[in-house]
Amino acid sequence: MQVLFRSAFILFFFAATACAQAAPDYREPQRPQFHFTPAKNWTNDPNGLVFFKGEYHLFYQYNPFGDTWGHMSWGHAVSNDMLHWKHLPVALPEADGIMMFSGSAVVDWNNTSGFGKGGEPPLIAVYTGHTATHQHQSIAYSTDRGRTWTKYSGNPVIPSKRRHFRDPKVFWHEESGQWIMLTVLADERKVRFFGSKNLKDWTRLSDFGPSGAFPVSNWECPDLFELPVENAPGESKWVLQVDSGNGHPAGGSGCQYFVGGFDGRRFRSDNPPESALWVDYGKDFYAGQSWSDVPAADGRRLILGWMNNWRYARRIPTSPWRGAMTLPREVSLRRYPEGIRLRQAPLREARKLRGEHLSLRDVSVEEAASEIRERNFDADTLEIEVEIELGGAAEAGLSVRANGQGQRTLIGYSPALGHLFVDRAASGATDFHDDFSGRHAARLAAPEGKVKLHVFVDRSSVEVFGGDGRATITERIFPDPPSQGWSPYANGGAARVARLDAWKLRSVWPRR
Ligand code: FRU
Repeated sequence: MQVLFRSAFILFFFAATACAQAAPDYREPQRPQFHFTPAKNWTNDPNGLVFFKGEYHLFYQYNPFGDTWGHMSWGHAVSNDMLHWKHLPVALPEADGIMMFSGSAVVDWNNTSGFGKGGEPPLIAVYTGHTATHQHQSIAYSTDRGRTWTKYSGNPVIPSKRRHFRDPKVFWHEESGQWIMLTVLADERKVRFFGSKNLKDWTRLSDFGPSGAFPVSNWECPDLFELPVENAPGESKWVLQVDSGNGHPAGGSGCQYFVGGFDGRRFRSDNPPESALWVDYGKDFYAGQSWSDVPAADGRRLILGWMNNWRYARRIPTSPWRGAMTLPREVSLRRYPEGIRLRQAPLREARKLRGEHLSLRDVSVEEAASEIRERNFDADTLEIEVEIELGGAAEAGLSVRANGQGQRTLIGYSPALGHLFVDRAASGATDFHDDFSGRHAARLAAPEGKVKLHVFVDRSSVEVFGGDGRATITERIFPDPPSQGWSPYANGGAARVARLDAWKLRSVWPRR
C-alpha cells in the first residue's frame, strides 16, 4: 500500500513539474499584463459572458491545437474582478465534425428550460454549431457553476440549412415575458430575432437590416441592451450592436451600433439610414459582447471585445498565444449635440492595479517630459489621464512606448481635423502585414481648446478613451521591449498640460 502511495506521489510530482515547466509564465515580451489572453494558442471572439454566484465567466473562441484559427471550441476562464482570470478546461470542444462558433450564456433563474437541479438555476450556453455545409443554433447547460456542460439532446434548437446563420445572443425581455435571441444572417447583413418561453422552442419574430455602413460583406456577433440616457432623466434607448467583417473606417473589421427602440418583437433604429456609428474607431475592437446577469445592485452594462482585426489577426507576432481581449468597459448613453451616442469608461476595478503615481498640474509639454524622465517613470504598463490645452499646436497628445530613436506610438489630437488619433506607423514591428501600420482617427470636439485623454498602455496595446469616453480608439502595437519612454508632445505650436495623472500598473500575473 505504502509503495503504491509513494509511486503515485512520485508520478504526481513529475506530472506537476512537467505541467509547471510547460505552462507559460505570462512574461513573454508582448504578453499583456492585465488584458485577458489564453495561456497558449489562438483566440478570437469573447463568448458566453455571464455573471453567476460571484464569478464573471469569459468563454472565448479557441483553437486548442494551434495559434491560428481552427477547431473552434469554447475556451473558459472565471474571475472575480474581470482582471485576474483563472483558466478552466475547454468548456465546449469541437465534436462530431461540429465546431462551436460564437454565442452567449444566461442564468435561467426561473428554470424555464427545466435543466435546473435541486432548486438551483442552470447556466445555459447558446452557440452556433458550424458544419462544412450549414450553421444552426444549439444549447448546452451546466448545473455546477459552469464547470461541466451537457449538450441538449434536442439540439439544434433552431435548425437551418443556411451557411451563414450564427452568433446567438440571448437575453430575458421582461416586458414581453420571453427570451429573445438575436442571430445574424451574416451574408445578408441582417439581424434575425427569435422569441422563446423555455430556451428550447423558438419562434421567428423579425429581421433588422441591412443598415448602417455600406458596403460591408457580412454581419456578425449581434447584441442588444437597454440603457438610460444619462443626461435626459426618464429617457432610455436600446442599443443594437453588430459587427462587420469589413468596412470599418480604419479598414477591416469593426463593431457598429444603432440606437433605437425594441418592443419585444422588432428593433427600430433612430440612426439616419446609411450612416454608421462605431463602438471604437481603432482597428482592434471586434465581436463586442456585453455581460449577462450583472446584478441589478451593480447595474453596469459591461462590454468586452476581441482586440484584433480579421485583416491581419492570423499574423500578429505573439507566441505561444495569439489574440487578446480588450479591457472590459462600462457603456452608457449620453445626448450630445450630434445625437444620442455611446459613452465608454474603462473598468473601474482596474484602479486596483495602480502602483507608483505621478501628478502634474499646469506645466509645459517640455516640463512634463523632463519631470517624467527625472522620476524614472518609463514603463510598458501605464494608465495616464491627461488634459491638454491645445494652444496654437497643430497636433498635441502623448507619445508612448518610445525608444528615443524614433520608435513610438502617438496618441494625438488635431484641432484642424477635429479628431483624435492613434498613429502606430513607427510603433515597432508593423511589417508582418500591409494593413497594420497607419493612423486611425475618431471625430471628437475639443471644448474650450482642451482635450481629455484616458489611456491604458499594456505592452502590446493602447486603449484610448477621449473626451470623457465619447470616442475610443483601441490598437495593438508591437514595440521593442526596451521602448518604455513616454511623454506629452506637441507639434507646430505650444500646448500645455493642464493636468496629468499617471500610474505604473501592476501585472495581474503573480511573479514566480
Ligand atoms: C466573428 C466570427 C463569428 C463566428 C466566429 C468563428 O469573429 O466570424 O461570426 O461565430 O468568429 O470563430
